[in-house]
Amino acid sequence: MTATVDTDQLEAKVKDMYRHVAQQPDGPFHFELGEQVALRVGYAADRLTTVPPDALESFAGVGYFFDLAYLVAGETVVDLGSGSGTDVFYAASLVGATGRVIGIDFTPEQLEKARRLAAASGISTVEFREGRIEALPVPDSTADCVISNGVINLCPDKRAVFTEAARVLRPGGRLAVADIVSEQALTDAIVCNADLWASCIGGAAQQDQYLDAIESSGFVVDQIRENAYQFISEQARRASATYGVKSISVLATTTT
Ligand SMILES: C[S@@+](CC[C@H](N)C(=O)[O-])C[C@H]1O[C@@H](n2cnc3c(N)ncnc32)[C@H](O)[C@@H]1O
Repeated sequence: MTATVDTDQLEAKVKDMYRHVAQQPDGPFHFELGEQVALRVGYAADRLTTVPPDALESFAGVGYFFDLAYLVAGETVVDLGSGSGTDVFYAASLVGATGRVIGIDFTPEQLEKARRLAAASGISTVEFREGRIEALPVPDSTADCVISNGVINLCPDKRAVFTEAARVLRPGGRLAVADIVSEQALTDAIVCNADLWASCIGGAAQQDQYLDAIESSGFVVDQIRENAYQFISEQARRASATYGVKSISVLATTTT
């Protein structure tokens, strides 16, 4: 990718879009939201009942990775770009009362909603911290697993995100993500369109470059698979068909 997006403009667009996702999840978006997309990509219906319904209605993930992450009781999990909290609550049900899940997000309305729902449902093993996933507010070597769903494509510096994930993981820790990548390089017109970035298309890295960024940040990639995820607007579907924009899940393990 040679062209770059205006990063200040992009951040403002991303925050604006995900404020709407938190507050008006039934509004028009390029992507699908909520329980139906979660079920389609592989979330277990019975475990989704542990997620507060108002969090699930704002679910904006693009795939499923919990079978790859293989979370066990007592683990500490960090969710990069936790949104309204679906994956944090879902992970909390897997790591149990002795585990801990920390969600990181930079959109105030998403954080406010997730915190309010955690308090209202009495789920005390979760925490939502304000921060950028390129500079995580999490100490070194404290997490067993880092997860992220539909977020890293939104970041211009993907390597910075993976380097931070490696920093906060304990030796042998896992990275399990679902994200949007492309088979072919996107045109400059798409890359420089902040609307398409904020909709999880414009920032899609080519798959091989995405996997290289993971491996050059201190991981070995163990598994990759495609998810049954589809964009819904005409513009997004067209870009997806032309450039092979698709959702994948990846499991990687730290090399140290
Ligand atoms: C597509 S949504 C996904 C939310 C959540 N993972 C889910 O599955 O519902 C992207 C989220 O990432 C957050 N985000 C995007 N870029 C970020 C960054 N650089 N640092 C922190 N949060 C970010 C947005 O605020 C938004 O809540």
